[in-house]
Amino acid sequence: MDLSIIGSGYVGLVSGACFAEVGHNVICVDNDQRKVDALQAGRIPIYEPGLEEVVQRNVAAGRLRFTNSIEDGVDHSEVVFIAVPTPPQADGSVDLSYIERVAREIAAVLKPEQYRVVVDKSTVPVKTGDKVYETIKRYGKKGAEFDVVSNPEFLREGCAVDDLMHPDRIVIGSKSDRALALMKKLYEPFMAPILVTDINSAELIKHAANSFLALKISYINAVSAICEASGADVEKVADGIGMDKRIGRNFLNAGLGYGGSCFPKDIAAFIAISEQLGVPFTLLKEVERINQSQRERFLKSLRNTLWILRDKKIAVWGLTFKGDTDDIRSSVSIELIKDLIAEGAHVTAYDPKGMDNVRSFKLIPEAKLVNSALEAAQGAEALIIATEWHEFAKVDLNQLKETLHSPLVFDGRNLLDPVTMHHLGFQYHSIGRPGATKS
Ligand code: UDX
Repeated sequence: MDLSIIGSGYVGLVSGACFAEVGHNVICVDNDQRKVDALQAGRIPIYEPGLEEVVQRNVAAGRLRFTNSIEDGVDHSEVVFIAVPTPPQADGSVDLSYIERVAREIAAVLKPEQYRVVVDKSTVPVKTGDKVYETIKRYGKKGAEFDVVSNPEFLREGCAVDDLMHPDRIVIGSKSDRALALMKKLYEPFMAPILVTDINSAELIKHAANSFLALKISYINAVSAICEASGADVEKVADGIGMDKRIGRNFLNAGLGYGGSCFPKDIAAFIAISEQLGVPFTLLKEVERINQSQRERFLKSLRNTLWILRDKKIAVWGLTFKGDTDDIRSSVSIELIKDLIAEGAHVTAYDPKGMDNVRSFKLIPEAKLVNSALEAAQGAEALIIATEWHEFAKVDLNQLKETLHSPLVFDGRNLLDPVTMHHLGFQYHSIGRPGATKS
């Protein structure tokens, strides 16, 4: 099938590459000409495992191309996806101006004799589909034939290609049988279960799913605080409750809290949507509060040990919001480093993929960025592990002990083993685990 995707950000680019990979002809549209040129040449602006190969293979095969022209995309596609950003506003509500502009731009180039399915893939508040439909109707030519569909995306950064190629489910919200038939044909090669709903429900599924996952994380993080106060082990507790199939073990890893471009934004948006609809979802405010308190509790424990942070040399491993990505948006690590710097500490940090972004966005100019985990630890009075990169779990611990000024490790992602750390002579703190007493 022929399709186009407007917006070559994370979701648009990975979706476009994967649709091409299963044999569709894909045009990715973006208004940034430099990005379009780079992508057409096979250069990927983000670090995402496996993506570069898929893009290069499909560009070479002629199934994937990039353009800055919406008209080019709409003219040559039966299905037109919208995958532009929906950033948060100061009050947590969603800025839908990019979606609205793209709807008007699609309307301007729709030809009356061409039926098109316009699919919203961006994460949007419930009822946005109605607005997109009304906007295209208002600004389109008389007789333009189109339907609007909601098809939220559930990919995770760091494993986006795999998530897209093997989705748990595909959600299609549509009130048109004609549009639905085309959407089912488009997704047939993925051989995944398809859930068909009305448009409002499809839109709501995305916010409800992300909020539920964040709730799971905050739940186990709240349990981790109780574990610390009582001497229980949060990992054992998570295993024990996760073995119940109704609960499941995924997303029960206690740590410094969730970050990234989706959870913080989507939870705030869902709260704002519920308030606008007159049914405030107050449980989600507690989810946010617990998330924030994880970092505060961690800092308190650091202060309890180091006493005063001013002029202390502190090493931080990990700057991205999680492992296997170069994305530093709403990264808990960056917030933590800002807290340390505000208290006068000297921070030396290392991240396998995130340092270029940290440098270019100048988020923590006071922090010194170095080229390896051990170099960051050199002479530090404490080491903080802030992101769950596998690389950090493989560092030679004896060498680490020699490198640090004092063998003090605060593991914010429960990456290392407390018993090993104790045997090696580290003073080791992690999240919700009893440390040396673990058997
Ligand atoms: C998330 C959703 O998983 C995905 O379905 C949606 O499309 C976009 O938002 P992503 O933001 O890429 O994906 O990352 P995810 O793997 O979900 O992790 C989000 C945050 O939660 C990270 O900061 C991670 O460190 C944290 N996390 C995750 C935990 O603290 N504990 C866990 O058990 C799982």
